[in-house]
Amino acid sequence: MLAPDAVTSLEGYGAAILGSAIYMGEWMDDARALVDRLGPELAKRPVWLFSSGVLGAPSGAEDAPYAALEDEAIADLVAASGAREHRFLAGRIDARGLGLGEKTLVAAVRAPEGDFRSWAEIRDWATAIAAALTSE
Ligand SMILES: Cc1cc2nc3c(=O)[nH]c(=O)nc-3n(C[C@H](O)[C@H](O)[C@H](O)COP(=O)(O)O)c2cc1C
Repeated sequence: MLAPDAVTSLEGYGAAILGSAIYMGEWMDDARALVDRLGPELAKRPVWLFSSGVLGAPSGAEDAPYAALEDEAIADLVAASGAREHRFLAGRIDARGLGLGEKTLVAAVRAPEGDFRSWAEIRDWATAIAAALTSE
């Protein structure tokens, strides 16, 4: 497995499924940088994007400014990568693994603790992607 920063080319790959956890309402820097760096290469292949977070659609609440990934940020990622689709996939927060700083940030965005991952949804999505690739 390669860290995002170590990916310099997509040669040899016919398709890409690319995602990031959402931190403070944004994709992680190294994942975003990969899209910017390899955008033209991504655009030549079928690409699917996902974002993992514990907060759903933007709340619009003034006091929770980071809540979810904004539609504009998603549109930007889709444009930069030529992705066919972007999916929000619910993630998890395990408070035991967080330091004090992270706990403060989690409280600031009012992110609920817990495991909200839906393995059935993830499986269905992966199956749909595999079917799309097989039929092409
Ligand atoms: C410091 C911190 C900030 C977070 N900010 C957000 C956020 O703004 N929106 C959101 O939906 N989830 C947020 N989350 C939840 C993470 O996106 C979620 O835990 C994700 O599943 C983490 O994936 P990972 O374990 O692969 O890093 C935050 C989590 C942490 C620890």
